Amino acid sequence: MNQLSQFIEGIPTAELHLHIEGTLEPELMISIGKRNKVALPYPDAESARKAYNFSDLQSFLNIYYRATAVLLTEEDFYDLTIAYLKKAASQNVRHVEIFFDPQSHTRRGVTFETVIKGIERAFVEANSTLTLSTKLIMCILRHLSEVEGLEVLEKALEWKQWIAGIGLDSAERGNPPEKFQHLFERAQREGFLTVAHAGEEGNAASIKKTLDTLHVSRIDHGVHCMEDNSLVDELVLRQIPLTVCPLSNVRLQVFKNMKQHNLKAMLHRGLCVTINSDDPAYFGGYIKDNYIEAAKALMLDRDDIIRLAQNSFIASSLSETHKKLYLNEIIRYAGHEYS
Ligand code: ADE
Ligand code: ZN
Repeated sequence: MNQLSQFIEGIPTAELHLHIEGTLEPELMISIGKRNKVALPYPDAESARKAYNFSDLQSFLNIYYRATAVLLTEEDFYDLTIAYLKKAASQNVRHVEIFFDPQSHTRRGVTFETVIKGIERAFVEANSTLTLSTKLIMCILRHLSEVEGLEVLEKALEWKQWIAGIGLDSAERGNPPEKFQHLFERAQREGFLTVAHAGEEGNAASIKKTLDTLHVSRIDHGVHCMEDNSLVDELVLRQIPLTVCPLSNVRLQVFKNMKQHNLKAMLHRGLCVTINSDDPAYFGGYIKDNYIEAAKALMLDRDDIIRLAQNSFIASSLSETHKKLYLNEIIRYAGHEYS
């Protein structure tokens, strides 16, 4: 392992763009499927991995929603979540803001309570046994209607003590942000942090529209912002965080390969870019694998890595006091002052 990879492995970070359902490793999927007697199109983990070839976001979502069908009980959601949290802690992740997609479960007859209690049990355990803190962001599936989204928002209000934020995910094409304007207004009135996927497959105009109609605090992905200079100026000026997921972008063919990724250009343009893993069980790596792959292909240096790690805490919804603690930890780790 080279020196920079070693530096990356040790640096403390936060992860802000992670779908818990996207951490369902094939081995766990197969074993939960057997436990719950849910048939899968794969005989074993190896053949599942082989089938994970995606031509675009929708081709991935079809496989992803099919796989989540094995998740039925509180224990399943606990097993899924604790496995991810242990992995994240082992990669020196200090804080995670995790997405979950309740509509992909309630549509199959699994109750909201089952999902959230399983996730929360893992959070409670992690908070006392692992060196990381956790927050939960409930995502609204944008291919469904706003009315269906508002129904699940009502459920979130019942479980508000466990839910920090509301996000927007699933198919961006054909489902513009303005479809969910009322829902996001309501979420903000209720005091939730709000974030939304935009500019993953959608263009710069989709990011602009998301900011102007949904008034979210962060943009998930956002890589297509670079097509519009005035949008980039606005994102830089307002330091709107962009939670970029390099391996996801390559696997979903947003970029042909990692060398073509615009992460470095975004960072050097002054955007508040962070690195995240999105759906690591499907895209070939967890957060530090994303850092390492991007660093190799784009020739990132130590200062780039420090900036990315700092951004991850700055962009989080942690208190200013906690942000300072982690930023100081980075400075101590890096062994030099960084302005
Ligand atoms: N749900 C899970 N992963 C996603 C992604 N990369 N984009 C949109 N919705 C998602
Ligand atoms: Zn995502």
